[in-house]
Amino acid sequence: METTLVLLKPSCVQRGLIGEIINRFERRGLQISGMKMMQLDDEILRKHYAHLVNKPFFPALAGSMKASPIVAMALTGVEAVTVVRGMTGFTNGRRADPGTIRGDYSMSNQQNIVHASDSPESAVEELSRFFAPEEIYQYNHALAGYLYATDEAL
Ligand code: TYD
Repeated sequence: METTLVLLKPSCVQRGLIGEIINRFERRGLQISGMKMMQLDDEILRKHYAHLVNKPFFPALAGSMKASPIVAMALTGVEAVTVVRGMTGFTNGRRADPGTIRGDYSMSNQQNIVHASDSPESAVEELSRFFAPEEIYQYNHALAGYLYATDEAL
C-alpha cells in the first residue's frame, strides 16, 4: 500500500467541487487516510513549490493557492501515487484528457483544481509537510477484498 498527498485547491473549493472530487477518489477505491481544511501561507508554498519559486508565474501561483482555504487529503491504495496522478491529468486543464479531473473541470494551467504528489518520494515528503503523523489514520478498509485480488493488496 502507498499513501499520496492531494490538495483540493482554491479553484476546487470556491467552485463548490469538493464533494464531487472526493467522490471520484472514493469511487475509484482509494481510502481516505487523512483530510483537513487549511489556509496556506508563503512559507509552506515556497517549500511545496520549491522547484518553481524562480519561475515568473510563481507569485501568481502562490496568490492562487492562498486565495481561500484548501483541503488536504492523504489517499491510500496500491500504487496510489500513479493512480491519483493518472486521475489528475496533464497540468494545463485545457490539454488534459477528458475523463481526468483537470480534463473534466479545468480550463487553466494554474486554476487546475488539484495537486497530487508526482512520485513515492515526493509523496512521503509532502505528506509530512501537510500532516502531523497522528493526523494520518491506518484502518482496515472494509471493502479491500472486493477492491483487490488476494495477491494485490499487500
Ligand atoms: P507542476 O509541478 O509543473 O505541475 P503539476 O501540478 O501537474 O504537478 O506545477 C505546479 C503548479 O504550478 C501547477 O499545478 C500550476 C502551476 N503552474 C502555473 O501556474 N504555470 C505553469 O506554466 C506551470 C507549468 C505550472
